[in-house]
Amino acid sequence: MTDDAKLHRMIARAIRAPSSHNSQPWLFRPTDEGIDLLADRTRALPVTDPEDRELTISCGCALFGLRVAAAAEGLGAAISPLPDGPGEERLAHLAFNGPAEPDLRDLASVIDMRQTWRKAFTDQAVDTDSLTTLQAATAREGAWLAPLETEETREAAAKLVAEGDAAQWADPRWRRELAQWMHPRRAGDGLTLPGLAIPIARMVVRRFDLGDGVAARDSDLADHSPLLAVLGSEGDSPADWLATGQALHHLLLLGVKAGLAASYLNQPIEVIHLRPRLQALAGKTGYPQILLRMGHAAMDHAPSPRRPVDDVVID
Ligand SMILES: Cc1cc2nc3c(=O)[nH]c(=O)nc-3n(C[C@H](O)[C@H](O)[C@H](O)COP(=O)(O)O)c2cc1C
Repeated sequence: MTDDAKLHRMIARAIRAPSSHNSQPWLFRPTDEGIDLLADRTRALPVTDPEDRELTISCGCALFGLRVAAAAEGLGAAISPLPDGPGEERLAHLAFNGPAEPDLRDLASVIDMRQTWRKAFTDQAVDTDSLTTLQAATAREGAWLAPLETEETREAAAKLVAEGDAAQWADPRWRRELAQWMHPRRAGDGLTLPGLAIPIARMVVRRFDLGDGVAARDSDLADHSPLLAVLGSEGDSPADWLATGQALHHLLLLGVKAGLAASYLNQPIEVIHLRPRLQALAGKTGYPQILLRMGHAAMDHAPSPRRPVDDVVID
């Protein structure tokens, strides 16, 4: 049994997790001996993410946040993934009677510091020790992290990102979905823009194919990232997506500890026919789930908003 203040603190930490379009597609249900994590599929992105793959990864990130929060409260965490089967709303049950994960306690202090960094990184390289640490954490969660290290693979990945951008921006349904998630900060979710810019930005995104400009910028970012790496998994089932989400949040928080920021270039995974080509570049068996860029950055923006804890807790 855990008191209300503890539960509130834990859920407040869990909801700092990253999620696609900052959609925060999660709900939490306290139980006698733990917490259920449920998918909120009313927050799905049917055009960008028709199978709820990224939605499940996002919830996996929140699940890892819960584990960190439990460790910070001195509680253990036994995870039962998909206790009702794949496709059901309950994605995991966390019971506090599980093994303690003392090393995760240390990550609680950086949960609030992690932010997606979409601009260029400094020239400072990502050292091999940090990369090894990130890869070990990823493996512990049941996923893999494959850095794209040669000039050839990086350039090929940058081209795939540009192709992905072109395909997404050419699709009016995809643009409409993106515009729907451009919100003022007070909304507590979505991709935040300054209030006055919202109507015009939404209109531009809905009506115009900005693909060429975005593709050029993104492929340049990919090409010039100190670390460009594919996060992937052996299988491509909801259980794999949930594990990938935990791996993602784990490596992002370890990255913050090592002074690293990250952002995403997932277009060649979201645009389904490009995914096998990224897979070939990663040189691993299994499925690419996230294309990450990482490096050093002087973080200078406000954290992205979240909905209040009370809005994501159900009985
Ligand atoms: C599964 C997943 C996919 C994401 N895809 C993208 C993406 O393609 N492009 C991007 O800029 N950000 C992407 N993000 C980052 C989210 O937009 C970001 O986490 C959210 O806006 C909250 O901001 P924060 O990470 O700074 O807390 C993704 C995040 C997750 C978890």
